[in-house]
Amino acid sequence: MGSNPRTAPAPMIVEDWDQLTFRVNREAYRSAEVFARERGWVWMHTWLYLGHETEIPNPNDFKARTLGGRPLIFCRDTAGEVHAFLNSCPHRGTVLCRENEGSTRLFQCFYHAWTFRNNGEVAAIPDAGAYESTDEFRASMGLRSVPRLEIHEGFVFISFDPDVPPLLEHLGDAADYMSMIEQQHVGGMTTLPGTQLYGVRGNWKLAVENAMDGYHFAPTHNTFVGYLRESGYAVTDDNQYAYNLGNGHGLLVLTGHGGRISMIWEPRFGEDERIRTDAHRAEMTQRLGEQRAHHVADESHILFVFPNLLLFDIEGLSIRQLEPVAPDQTDVRAWQLVPRNEDPETRALRMKTVVSFVGPGGLATPDDIEAYEAVQRGIQATAGSGLPELDFSDMSRGMADEVKGVQGRSIDEGAMRGFWRHWVDAIGLDDGIEVNGERPASFLSGRDVR
Ligand code: FES
Ligand SMILES: [Fe+2]
Repeated sequence: MGSNPRTAPAPMIVEDWDQLTFRVNREAYRSAEVFARERGWVWMHTWLYLGHETEIPNPNDFKARTLGGRPLIFCRDTAGEVHAFLNSCPHRGTVLCRENEGSTRLFQCFYHAWTFRNNGEVAAIPDAGAYESTDEFRASMGLRSVPRLEIHEGFVFISFDPDVPPLLEHLGDAADYMSMIEQQHVGGMTTLPGTQLYGVRGNWKLAVENAMDGYHFAPTHNTFVGYLRESGYAVTDDNQYAYNLGNGHGLLVLTGHGGRISMIWEPRFGEDERIRTDAHRAEMTQRLGEQRAHHVADESHILFVFPNLLLFDIEGLSIRQLEPVAPDQTDVRAWQLVPRNEDPETRALRMKTVVSFVGPGGLATPDDIEAYEAVQRGIQATAGSGLPELDFSDMSRGMADEVKGVQGRSIDEGAMRGFWRHWVDAIGLDDGIEVNGERPASFLSGRDVR
């Protein structure tokens, strides 16, 4: 390990089963070299969440989006097919679509006016006769599609690597939790128009940690916890669990706080909503069976799909997408996913509740952002200090239970450890992890193990 702050020292993770400690090198959050590796290895070679199909419900709808720093057009063509194109003119590379969203059959580049259909074909090249073998030339100059695009339950994923395994293989156990979301309501779910976009002065992995971290809930969000108590709801950490789902995906199963609109009633939602929630619960039992309805309805979930999708199925259902901009800068885009057919009063209550907690100005999100921005500032204290052993963050919580085979709690750090182990593998550092002692045999994957 060098003390030169410009080079990323290995190992990034030290996992010690004799000491029961798990430590993450703080260079992981700071280093430009690590960030470049993530761009080149993680973002270029795995499935990335692009958006939800319902964001572009009609033929000709489009959204401009950026993933892994690459500008993209996410659109539905005139025939209704979903596409993702590089948002870069095949002529000389200009950003082709300069609107954030809209509806169009044609994308015209402002530079030399080349024009493309929304299925990627060239529609017009001014003075095309100046090119030899125009047909062939034209055929070679269509919009560049991303190499892979697959959709699971309306969630659209892309990959810049043509050789990634099928999406469902990548999603593994996370796939069924996404199906459970779609099954919540007859008629399925849809995104509401409008994106909440905010920049955070922190590394993207801090946002992942924060989401997989039930430990911070009571201290960081004590204003909200106080509000829940005052509105007649006991807040508890009992019976709340964390799972490694494999492939870097993680899950928190929460039953001790919150409430979910139309699923888990609590006093602050009011009596009318209690009646609607009961009716909906009965409908779900009939449609899905008792067991499945129980999993869909009675637990809140926070699902992380490696590397850039967070689904907060808590009070309402928020989709969050992480776009790393720099080692210490992340753009977050968020959407509300709601039942397609919803009673207007429930919808109004849902919006009010969501805005007051998980919205960017709610009781929770500013607390969380302050927490991970404070980490980003604080970890400068041990950067390049000449004492590299101090420059690690601790994520050991719950390891003592893990060796005994006890299920990890949401207030432990087991879901984070699963993320970090996968991350260190995904960035392709040979000596990225140092493991001391014997790992427990059964902890690596599956819903019932950490
Ligand atoms: S760069 Fe787009 S038309 Fe020339
Ligand atoms: Fe939080």
